[in-house]
Amino acid sequence: MNQRKKIITIVGARPQIIKSSAISRAVQNVFSEELEELIVHTGQHYDENMSKVFFEEMNIPTPHFNLQVGSGSHGQQTAKMLEGLEKIFLDEKPDGVIVYGDTNSTIAGALAAAKIYIPVIHIEAGLRSFNKAMPEELNRISCDHMSTLLFTPTETGLTNLSNEGFDLSHKPKATIDAPNVYHCGDIMYDNSLHFAKVADQFSSIMETEQLKANEFVLMTVHRDTNTDIAENLEAIFSAVDHISEKHKLTFVLPLHPRTKHKMEAQLSPELFKKVMESEWIKIIEPVGFMDIIVLEKNARMVVTDSGGLQKESFFFEKPCVILRDQTEWTEIVENGNAILTGANRDEILAAFDTLFNKSDYTYPTFYGDGKAAEFICQKIIDEIA
Ligand code: UD1
Ligand code: UDP
Repeated sequence: MNQRKKIITIVGARPQIIKSSAISRAVQNVFSEELEELIVHTGQHYDENMSKVFFEEMNIPTPHFNLQVGSGSHGQQTAKMLEGLEKIFLDEKPDGVIVYGDTNSTIAGALAAAKIYIPVIHIEAGLRSFNKAMPEELNRISCDHMSTLLFTPTETGLTNLSNEGFDLSHKPKATIDAPNVYHCGDIMYDNSLHFAKVADQFSSIMETEQLKANEFVLMTVHRDTNTDIAENLEAIFSAVDHISEKHKLTFVLPLHPRTKHKMEAQLSPELFKKVMESEWIKIIEPVGFMDIIVLEKNARMVVTDSGGLQKESFFFEKPCVILRDQTEWTEIVENGNAILTGANRDEILAAFDTLFNKSDYTYPTFYGDGKAAEFICQKIIDEIA
């Protein structure tokens, strides 16, 4: 009789919950006889609009376990996750553990599994910013080097792994010491294609926020260097205030809780008041995935420091100002769809104008064919345990 392979998926931060829906969908619709998926939520994100909303609207199975670790310093948060995850892995004895991306939930899942000889499957492997001051860079490098199956979303990811000594030939049986690396495309492209077909049906955000297509800019900001360094947050909001008034363009800003908690304390009282009272800056609560897709589809441009949003701006053919000094998604910058500005006011203004006035954009196929999840599931079935 065909024995199903038991896979544990680790999610915790908003983008991981969203990413995981592609694999859960493939398991449910195509591989239910070969794979059994248990979901563990570390509880890194816990507000309803940072977590629960996605399980509901994206049809992700309710997590079997929730460690409820909540917020904390890197060490505290990761340590609590490690302890909880190890116990679950020992009890459940999965054949493999899936981790996504580069958050503290990613590194905790990978480390807890690898230390007790459970193969780690890293989705979104190989991405690098080459800036080890980013907690995410430390998480992703460490995670890649303890994985057995690595799935890269881009050619750049594959090259980065090769440069770090990964053997890109495919062994019949991958192990932690001789892992297999596959370039499979981006599962977020799978999700964006899938949900773009139905998002309009489920979202009324354009009406609720009284927005007109192509007459607003979608913006998000949450990166620690932008929120926690006062002069950076000041430069960013000062730029936004200037651009929105100059172009008479509404900025819609679904605000990450991290930024919400910091804004009043970090911005100068004058700028804080101006931003909160501006007729052009619309600060709203974080929105669900259907709403964000509708905003992405209808925006004139995107301004963000989010890894996910900068790439989705490319999927929906919107130019993007990236409020960071480096990006892991280098293709969109090299291809002229996005410009890196860091938190430099003048650079943000210049990049916005350049992208706003440019018209000869191209959108090559950097991110696969929208079938990455099925490819990944098949490799797990063929190569794990
Ligand atoms: C984390 C990830 C980051 C990812 C982001 C996605 C790490 C190191 N960072 O950053 O890579 O881009 O998630 O959104 O893993 N908070 C709430 N409610 C919540 C969640 C967070 O109020 O549901 C607030 C708390 O004040 C918390 C702060 O946000 O201290 C930061 O949360 P945390 O998960 O530590 O990091 P993020 O900035 O969200
Ligand atoms: N997102 C969302 N609602 C929002 C803001 C973002 O659903 O209000 C989605 C976004 O479309 C992307 C993901 O969240 O798929 C990105 O998450 P985030 O920016 O928190 O993290 P990052 O990608 O930077 O790690």
